[in-house]
Amino acid sequence: MTIELISPTTDFFDSWAEAVAEFDGDHIDGSGTQAPVTPDRATLDALIEKARMLADTSAELPEGAVYNDLYWLVDDGEVVAFLSFRHTLNEWLREAGGHIGYAVRPSRRRQGYATAALALGLERAREIGLDRVLVTCDDDNVGSYRTIENAGGVLQDVSDQTERGHALLRRYWITL
Ligand SMILES: CC(C)(COP(=O)(O)OP(=O)(O)OC[C@H]1O[C@@H](n2cnc3c(N)ncnc32)[C@H](O)[C@@H]1OP(=O)(O)O)[C@@H](O)C(=O)NCCC(=O)NCCS
Repeated sequence: MTIELISPTTDFFDSWAEAVAEFDGDHIDGSGTQAPVTPDRATLDALIEKARMLADTSAELPEGAVYNDLYWLVDDGEVVAFLSFRHTLNEWLREAGGHIGYAVRPSRRRQGYATAALALGLERAREIGLDRVLVTCDDDNVGSYRTIENAGGVLQDVSDQTERGHALLRRYWITL
């Protein structure tokens, strides 16, 4: 089994489109969008360009943006999850978003993929020299907080983030 994080690519268009379709219009955490994703070629082309732009640490980013790796978790040629790794935190990320966001396609949940994705995201964080990583999740998201706690996450706080689009939100730090 080869499981890895890769940048968005047309090579896995069919698998990406199937994965996106499974979310059935829901916002996909870690997909690099603020809205539901349409699984068509134009959307993927735009995503590839966005991922290239946000990962290019030699280029200046627009005000407020941070360097951000948008990854797909691919297992044996199948896109099974999405992961977004933010190199630094801006105000919104410090309060609500954290360094790492992820989502596993519905048909592949409870098979260890969030655990694998987070482990690979942490490797990437180590690679760029971070000492610790902030990961957040809704207070009632059992699957996500177990994933974070299993990776060594220490709870900092639970706060009301209604204004930032969440309800009660947990913030965890993972020391690398
Ligand atoms: C939350 C989510 C990422 C979990 O992904 P997953 O691949 O199913 O997680 P894993 O298989 O790696 O499981 C990790 C741990 O969570 C537990 N878990 C996962 N889903 C669970 C659920 N629905 N209820 C209870 N426990 C759950 C697993 O048992 C495992 O814990 P354990 O090893 O202590 O038994 C996935 O459900 C998802 O993508 N949800 C929608 C998007 C989202 O919430 N993203 C996170 C935003 S912070």
